[in-house]
Amino acid sequence: MKPIVLSLPGNELLAQKIIVAIQADKAEYELRSFPDGETYLRVLSDVAERDIILVCTLYQPDSKLLPLLFLCRLLKDLKVKSICLVSPYLAYMRQDKQFKSGEAVTSGYFASVLSGICDRLITIDPHLHRRVSMKEIYSIPCDVLHAASIISKWIKANIPDALVIGPDSESEQWVSEVAKNAEVPFVILEKVRHGDKEVKVSVPQVDGYKAHTPVLVDDIISTARTMIETVSHLKNAGMRAPVCIGVHAVFAGNAYADLRNAGVAKIVTCNSITHETNEIDISEILIHALRNKTMFNAL
Ligand code: R5P
Repeated sequence: MKPIVLSLPGNELLAQKIIVAIQADKAEYELRSFPDGETYLRVLSDVAERDIILVCTLYQPDSKLLPLLFLCRLLKDLKVKSICLVSPYLAYMRQDKQFKSGEAVTSGYFASVLSGICDRLITIDPHLHRRVSMKEIYSIPCDVLHAASIISKWIKANIPDALVIGPDSESEQWVSEVAKNAEVPFVILEKVRHGDKEVKVSVPQVDGYKAHTPVLVDDIISTARTMIETVSHLKNAGMRAPVCIGVHAVFAGNAYADLRNAGVAKIVTCNSITHETNEIDISEILIHALRNKTMFNAL
C-alpha cells in the first residue's frame, strides 16, 4: 500500500511536494488548542496498517514536541504500520557535551524521546560535530542527508568565481565537497566559541584569492556571530563583500538583521526552515531518499 503523508503545521508545502513526487496519500487530521492551552488532536483518515511519513521540521522544537509526541502515540494507537519522521532541521544536536557539571546533555534526551515515538528519522545535515554518528544517541534508523550537492549546484550557477570558506575544522569534510563539486577553491578557518554569542574565528589566508567572491558556507546560522566575525576579517583583508550560505536558517533574535548589516552581498539558505532567504530547495534530496522504498521494507 502507498505511504500516507501527514504534515504538522508549517510543513504543508514540503509535504505536498512529497505527496506528488512519490504518489503518496495525504492524511487529514485536526489539531488545535483547548481554551486552557492543552492540545486537542484527532486523525480523520484511516491510517491502520499504513506507513506514515510525518513531516515536521524541528525549528523551535519546544512548542512542537508535545503535539508531535501526542500524534505519534495516537498513530500507534490507530495501529499504523510504521512512522517515518521527516525532519529537515533536527533540533537539539548542538548540546552534545557537558561543559560544566550539572549541565543537561539535551541532544541525548531529545534523541531518546524521538527514538521512542517514531520508527525512522530522515534529516538533513544534523549538527554532528563531536558525535560521529546518529547511532550514538538515536536508537532508531536515521537517514542523514546532505545539502552539499544542492549548495554546489547553486554556487556553480550563481557565483562561478567563488572562494568557498568553511568556519571550522569540523566543516572541512563537507565544505571541501561543496567546493569540489562547484569546481572552485576553498579555505577552512579555525573557530573557538566562548559563549552563546562570543565566537573567535581565525583570520582567513586569502591573499591569493583577491579576484574571487568569498562564499561563507555553514550548516547553521543561529546567532550569525560566526559569519559576522568572518565577514569582518574578509573586509579587513580587502576582499569583496561575501555571500553567506547556511543550510538551516535558524536566525536567533536579531541575527538576520545583524548579518545583513555586517556588509554582506547576499544571504542564501536552504528551505529546511522557512525564511525569506530560502533559495535552495531541499525537497529533491528528501524525495530521492523517500523514493528508496527499501527504507519502508527495512522497518
Ligand atoms: C558550529 O559548529 C556550527 O557549524 C555553526 O558554525 C554554528 O552553529 C553557527 O552558530 P552562530 O550562527 O551562532 O555563530
